[in-house]
Amino acid sequence: MAVERALTGFAPPGLITGCRLICTGDERYLLPAENASIATRGHRARAASGAGRLVAHELLRRLGCANPAVPRGQQGNPIWPAGTIGSIAHDDDLAVAVAARSDAMTSVGIDIEPALPLPRELEAIVATPQDRLGDLEAGIGSRVLFAAKEAVYKASFPLDGRVLGFEDIGVDFESGEAVTSAGRMLTVRFALSPRILTLAYTA
Ligand SMILES: CC(C)(COP(=O)(O)OP(=O)(O)OC[C@H]1O[C@@H](n2cnc3c(N)ncnc32)[C@H](O)[C@@H]1OP(=O)(O)O)[C@@H](O)C(=O)NCCC(=O)NCCS
Repeated sequence: MAVERALTGFAPPGLITGCRLICTGDERYLLPAENASIATRGHRARAASGAGRLVAHELLRRLGCANPAVPRGQQGNPIWPAGTIGSIAHDDDLAVAVAARSDAMTSVGIDIEPALPLPRELEAIVATPQDRLGDLEAGIGSRVLFAAKEAVYKASFPLDGRVLGFEDIGVDFESGEAVTSAGRMLTVRFALSPRILTLAYTA
């Protein structure tokens, strides 16, 4: 699948990746500990979470994890098995996940978005004066910026425990770096096709 190729194309060494088309009934892949932690969500959201968890379980088994359950924390954050880190994202029909051993990488975040410009009213909320789009065209660049900030938030939350707004994150696509209001520096990468995929990580 083209998304799989895009994921392996931008993943740094040590990070493994996977994706799955979300199917009706995918909530059956939620393990008991996961089911208990996300019990209150609606049908479609649970199927998306099940699809993302199925991908995550496969990745964690490849990393040698015997119990690959990834329950949900209080802020929606996935809790990865000891010795591993990772991230999950979904759009309307695809779920993606990435994982690594924690001796290979400190933290990671991923996001997936349609390859379409962000609605105008959102642009002003997402962008800050310190952001640099580099070679990205402004229309699609606004969506890449949005997705990069979500990936940065997912990667920084396990380290800093802070809920961040878009204004708390500066992204520089010229240098490939992002910084949060907590002073956390992360590397950012993106792919534009067939979906916008963004990755943020600290080595
Ligand atoms: C995390 C968040 C940005 C995800 O956005 P989304 O577009 O709804 O959903 P995505 O498909 O991209 O990602 C969902 C996954 O993110 C992960 N996630 C959720 N909260 C997280 C957190 N605090 N830290 C790390 N990962 C988190 C989960 O794995 C979730 O999937 P699951 O529910 O199946 O486990 C959003 O849910 C959130 O918590 N926002 C509050 C803060 C915010 O919006 N700030 C502005 C952007 S920086």
